Amino acid sequence: MAEKIALLGCGFMAGAIAKGLVEKNVIPAENIIAINDHNPTSAENFAAKYGTSCGAAETVAEADAVITCFKPQNYKTAMPAYARHMHSGQLLISIMAGLTTRDIKSLLPEGVDVIRTMPNMALAVGLSATGYSPKGATAEHKALCEKIFGSLGVISEVPEEDLTGVTAIAGSSPAYFYYLAESMIKAAVEAGMDEDAARMLCKQAFIGTAELWKNDDAPPEEMRRRITSAKGTTDAAIRTMEAGGMANIVAEGMKACRERFVEMGIEMMK
Ligand SMILES: NC(=O)c1ccc[n+]([C@@H]2O[C@H](COP(=O)([O-])OP(=O)(O)OC[C@H]3O[C@@H](n4cnc5c(N)ncnc54)[C@H](OP(=O)(O)O)[C@@H]3O)[C@@H](O)[C@H]2O)c1
Repeated sequence: MAEKIALLGCGFMAGAIAKGLVEKNVIPAENIIAINDHNPTSAENFAAKYGTSCGAAETVAEADAVITCFKPQNYKTAMPAYARHMHSGQLLISIMAGLTTRDIKSLLPEGVDVIRTMPNMALAVGLSATGYSPKGATAEHKALCEKIFGSLGVISEVPEEDLTGVTAIAGSSPAYFYYLAESMIKAAVEAGMDEDAARMLCKQAFIGTAELWKNDDAPPEEMRRRITSAKGTTDAAIRTMEAGGMANIVAEGMKACRERFVEMGIEMMK
């Protein structure tokens, strides 16, 4: 029998999950329940858009897995209205940044398993890189989480403390890639290129690079070496970026991401 899942919150990530699960026939649309207790109209609109069911807070009781798709800052105030209808034997999957298994369990009834995941926005196209920590969950619940997120991209089981690092390298990293693209387009336009042409060429360069790497097991430094002739144009660009400390800037950015992740967990449960 197909499992039922409840999505708490009907924003971008909930839409990505519903779309992927339905398109890939992982969970039938009618077994996905969209719930937003504080804004039922958004759940109704979501259900109409993705063909899912929608329901009130008490419908969480019917779900095998409940996925928290609201912001971590909503957890403390929003969860009690749902938790009072949850019961032992259910699974709660968190996609929220920061909040630990312990924080999450503190608002749930005894016997509800918690699996923390950290996906990224590419869930929407079935290409997420998702880290997950099934700490203490049953084998059946772990398998259900793997079925859901494994169908929406690649998954990697990690110890709970490593979810901080997963966020820095995979959860937030699509934004770093966009930032690099933004900077490249801006530089091309400042150097005189038409903006539409710069955007189109940059986008295609990203897509082509990703596709090439997808089909090759070589590490990125080897991929780069293959297209960097000594004293050539690419070499000139890379040397200039290195001299400007780009690797350090990236490392500092990722460090800030990890620190904020931990801080958010503390702030949200105050
Ligand atoms: N976006 C990413 O790239 C990304 C990556 C990894 C993890 N995440 C995690 O994914 C989660 C959702 O992010 P998002 O980008 O999808 O945010 P979003 O688009 O802003 O969606 C959040 C949703 O939560 C709803 N909500 C607020 N209070 C609620 C309540 N009491 N009950 C049910 N729903 C409620 C909001 O409804 P209203 O609009 O009606 O308030 C909104 O639909 C966050 O925890 C985030 O940490 C996001």
